[in-house]
Amino acid sequence: MIRIEHLSKSFSGQVVLDDINFEVQKGEILVILGGSGTGKSVLLKSMMGLVRPDSGKIWIDGKEITQFSEKELLKVHKGIGYLFQEGALYDFMNVFENIAFPLQEHTDLDKPDIEAKVKKVLEVVDLAGIEGKYPSELSGGMKKRVGLARSIILGSKILFCDEPTSGLDPIRSRDISNLIRDISKGLKCTTVITSHDIRNAFRIADRSVLIRNGKIIAMGTQAQMEASSDIFVQSFIQ
Ligand SMILES: Nc1ncnc2c1ncn2[C@@H]1O[C@H](COP(=O)(O)OP(=O)(O)O)[C@@H](O)[C@H]1O
Ligand SMILES: [Mg+2]
Repeated sequence: MIRIEHLSKSFSGQVVLDDINFEVQKGEILVILGGSGTGKSVLLKSMMGLVRPDSGKIWIDGKEITQFSEKELLKVHKGIGYLFQEGALYDFMNVFENIAFPLQEHTDLDKPDIEAKVKKVLEVVDLAGIEGKYPSELSGGMKKRVGLARSIILGSKILFCDEPTSGLDPIRSRDISNLIRDISKGLKCTTVITSHDIRNAFRIADRSVLIRNGKIIAMGTQAQMEASSDIFVQSFIQ
């Protein structure tokens, strides 16, 4: 379970997150919604200690990580699969090397085991057999899938995805959304996803939170969000 308590963050006087509170239950998929520049990425990065909040606390599986040292955070990161917004594949490594990277960093598996694991996650993301290709040879949707394969290769029970549908056409967006939901539920991951794409957010989410001006202005299931009488909530989800 993940818990955020009274989280605030400013950058040079600009308040980005202002007293944010929520919980993500074990195995739940929570989507953080909001317009561009509302602090979704800052929030997700805060949740894994990549951004230090000004105040507030973050709990991951019973551990309060807010004051953790870099060394302690490394251990936390091992348990979190993270899909960066741009996929963030290494251009000079082929698909196999990109996906195998976390295994080489964090495990002492031998080559046949690594090869078997990479093969398996590529099947999961529906890209079997592309181990030898380089990122420049892949479409945007394929890069997201490779990034997703890399983020699940360590078998983490926590999955964070920053704008997994950004830059993709509607069909690819729908496919990657369904894939993330299937993987998350299949692996029983506690999952947090940021998105400004309301249609696909509802496709993935068990619950969503909507952020505006640093605050959560709505939280709940699709039905609960749709029942909100707040004008901004209504205009955002329409
Ligand atoms: N490292 C940083 N230094 C200064 N300002 C930042 C930094 N990271 C984010 N910001 C600012 O915080 C705000 C929210 O950014 P971000 O979380 O990336 O928005 P979103 O992901 O919702 O589009 C933006 O105004 C951005 O310029
Ligand atoms: Mg962002």
